[in-house]
Amino acid sequence: DNIYVPEVFFTNNCLTGENVVKSTRLLGDLDGVFQDKDAFEQMDRDRIIYQVSSFLPVVENTPGGLFMGITLLYPGKVGQEFFMTKGHFHTNSNRAEFYWGVEGEGMLILMDEQRNVWAERMFPGSLHYIPGKVAHRVANIGYQKLVFSACWPSDAGHDYATIAAEGFARSLMDVNGVPTLL
Ligand code: PA5
Ligand code: NI
Repeated sequence: DNIYVPEVFFTNNCLTGENVVKSTRLLGDLDGVFQDKDAFEQMDRDRIIYQVSSFLPVVENTPGGLFMGITLLYPGKVGQEFFMTKGHFHTNSNRAEFYWGVEGEGMLILMDEQRNVWAERMFPGSLHYIPGKVAHRVANIGYQKLVFSACWPSDAGHDYATIAAEGFARSLMDVNGVPTLL
């Protein structure tokens, strides 16, 4: 009678169902991301830093479709720098994205193509519009897990190479207990 159960569910900060892809980033996958190389080398490379579950209802690169994801980012620091996602521009560079805070305390770090960097506080209920051509990464600035969600066009793509090569122009550090962009 044309009434269906949805194919995907949000439970426990993760998506479950058809066409959901899960990925885990370990500290070792973030080699080169953090400023303090000595502190990085002393930590366990197998430590889980974040996990992403993404609902991909259409094939990657489909124009006009949408993807949705939930990221769970654990608390911690490498030296004085908060745990954070790799960060990326979109391959199709003008594609925008929404992020929104679900649980915990974070900072959305943004950088335009001129390498200007700024940040927005993330908290449960915060909503963030990330314009095209703006690289984005999230840091957990709290003592509990940070959970945020994202929705982006299915033809955006993730360009990690630019950030891997050039990084962000500023880093979010804990300066005497205050998250500060340096
Ligand atoms: O699509 C997005 O921007 C997010 O779902 C991110 O991919 C996610 O938060 C993980 O970050 P990154 O892709 O920078 O490792
Ligand atoms: Ni993105």
